[in-house]
Amino acid sequence: MKLYCKVVALALCLALLLLLYLFVGSDADEPPLKAAAGGSRPARASSSSRPGGDFAAAGRFRPVQAAEEREEEEEAAAAAAAAQAQVSKREPRLHRKTGRRGAARGKFANVRRPKDQKHSAAPLSSPQWMHLAVVACGDRLEETLVMLKSAVLFSYRKLKFHIFAEDSLKPEFERKLQEWPPSYTKKFEYNVYPIAFSVGNAQEWKKLFKPCAAQRLFLPTILKDVDSLLYVDTDVLFLRPIDDIWGFLRAFNSTQLAAMAPEHEIPKIGWYSRFARHPYYGVTGVNSGVMLMNLTRIRNAQFKNSMIPTGLAWEEMLYPLYQKYKNYITWGDQDLLNIIFYFNPECLYLFPCQWNYRPDHCMYGSNCKGAEEEGVSILHGNRGVYHDDKQPTFKALYEVIRDFPFEDNLFQSMYYPLQSKFLDTVHTLCGRIPQVFLKQIERTMKKVYESRVIVNVGANFRL
Ligand SMILES: *[C@@H]1O[C@H](CO)[C@@H](O)[C@H](O)[C@H]1NC(C)=O
Ligand SMILES: *[C@@H]1O[C@H](CO)[C@@H](O)[C@H](O)[C@H]1NC(C)=O
Repeated sequence: MKLYCKVVALALCLALLLLLYLFVGSDADEPPLKAAAGGSRPARASSSSRPGGDFAAAGRFRPVQAAEEREEEEEAAAAAAAAQAQVSKREPRLHRKTGRRGAARGKFANVRRPKDQKHSAAPLSSPQWMHLAVVACGDRLEETLVMLKSAVLFSYRKLKFHIFAEDSLKPEFERKLQEWPPSYTKKFEYNVYPIAFSVGNAQEWKKLFKPCAAQRLFLPTILKDVDSLLYVDTDVLFLRPIDDIWGFLRAFNSTQLAAMAPEHEIPKIGWYSRFARHPYYGVTGVNSGVMLMNLTRIRNAQFKNSMIPTGLAWEEMLYPLYQKYKNYITWGDQDLLNIIFYFNPECLYLFPCQWNYRPDHCMYGSNCKGAEEEGVSILHGNRGVYHDDKQPTFKALYEVIRDFPFEDNLFQSMYYPLQSKFLDTVHTLCGRIPQVFLKQIERTMKKVYESRVIVNVGANFRL
């Protein structure tokens, strides 16, 4: 009984300490908070730039867990993909011992990577880098920069940006990216490439769909040294670390070489199922705005097709395929991708709708189950919704990320403005489910706080 009381008392004390820390920490402790939240480098904040007691705590975690972590890192990558649901379960709890261990795992698995890189001076093609490609033409400069900002803001591992742009935009990109603060720029490297088509008639490809979009079909042949790549449209915003979608690569089975989300959740109102005059993948087709690719596999595969009985290599197939279907396709390269995966369904990994969340998922009522459960992971504001007033919820997210002062506090300068902007969107169907849009951002902020609390309390406790 006595022991029981002691345990309860101790637990209460601990809880109180945690609470105190949380509140005091979030008010009085601005600068470190900013470093952690604003740069949103929980990884860095908790590993390299932490002074004093924190350092001690981190040091203590390391040797004990190093071996275990390495295994877990592998595991985590594979598991991350299939089991985002479990990610939320594994998420650290504030008041449990298991929570602390969980946090140490989750956090430190991620923390380790950038540090390891310093020692091994990994080459650019190393799988430790995450590669992100975008094609920006016309007036998409600002949109692209906001997308890249969201990528750096939430991700843990280092990123390599491959930006394909018209020549006139190149100096602008370079100038803008150099204006970003060091806490951001040290997280990525980038290349700006000219628009180029490796096969067929360049003018014809350029006309396909919107200017330059067909470029993405040629990424496997242009980026020969890159193993895997996430391609996104310029109108995409990341609401959680890219590390998480990158994990799907490890979940591919032996025949899968690309991953996309369905074009629609409900066949009855899907575009392909109603209007397409060409073959398309699955029941509703796929949307190519967020496309994860194992380029190595794409380069090595032979694709079945409707033109010749034997398989064709990716590059050999594109132009004949385009010639054959060009009078039937409406959405350009996305249609071509749908045709390709219609004939090769075993090559595609289908990820759920929260990884490519579009107005279609809420404008007729919420129909993306995954997003209702765990929030939007990647937002895709297609049809120009960031720039008009048709979907104010999407526009609000775009503006808040665009206007977020780079090294500021996430709560004050992102979350609160977002909430107040959302109040003006409740007259729309998308605006009635703000939680769906906020959940992942909340989770990210929570992780930043918890990593500080846990590490610090851990240090005090050992003294
Ligand atoms: C891509 O596929 C190749 C060949 O199967 C494989 O060696 C490589 O590890 C894969 N990349 C990733 C990131 O899974
Ligand atoms: C990989 O998964 C796809 C999609 O579920 C399936 O069609 C294909 O047969 C699988 N490949 C292997 C080798 O199991």
